[in-house]
Amino acid sequence: MSDPLILHVLNGPNLNLLGVREPHIYGRETLADVQAICRAAAEGATVVFRQTNREGELIDWVQEARTEASALVINPAGYGHTSIALLDALKALTIPVVECHLSNPAAREDFRAHSYVSLAATGVVSGFGAHSYELAVKAALRLARERASQPSR
Ligand code: DQA
Repeated sequence: MSDPLILHVLNGPNLNLLGVREPHIYGRETLADVQAICRAAAEGATVVFRQTNREGELIDWVQEARTEASALVINPAGYGHTSIALLDALKALTIPVVECHLSNPAAREDFRAHSYVSLAATGVVSGFGAHSYELAVKAALRLARERASQPSR
């Protein structure tokens, strides 16, 4: 039987430049490589994988995940440090949310230490390069499966 779970993986600004953008920090994998890693990690669950440089579009996609997804993985990139509107959109979700970063923002500049997204995330994976996505996808789907197996109240 096919896996009924649907995972949305959303990527914020500048992640379209993965592979060429500060590779000593973000690695040599491209966003297409990251997408392939997510699909492999999802082991048959449907993966909707998107990237945008626009805050409003990211918020529209979070709202879409509210009704369409079983779980959400989000790398908000710079918007994680700045966007209360993105936090508000995430707070409207009832599905598991895993925040994901290639680097470990807490070990970088002070302004990266705070994430609005973390306030709405079930958990955070950061610092493992593209492997962060593999871990985030597995964690998100595990949470979604646990939820699906619980009797509804
Ligand atoms: C990032 C970390 C953020 O601080 C930064 O703005 C990014 C990428 C990461 O994946 O490590 O664009 O989210």
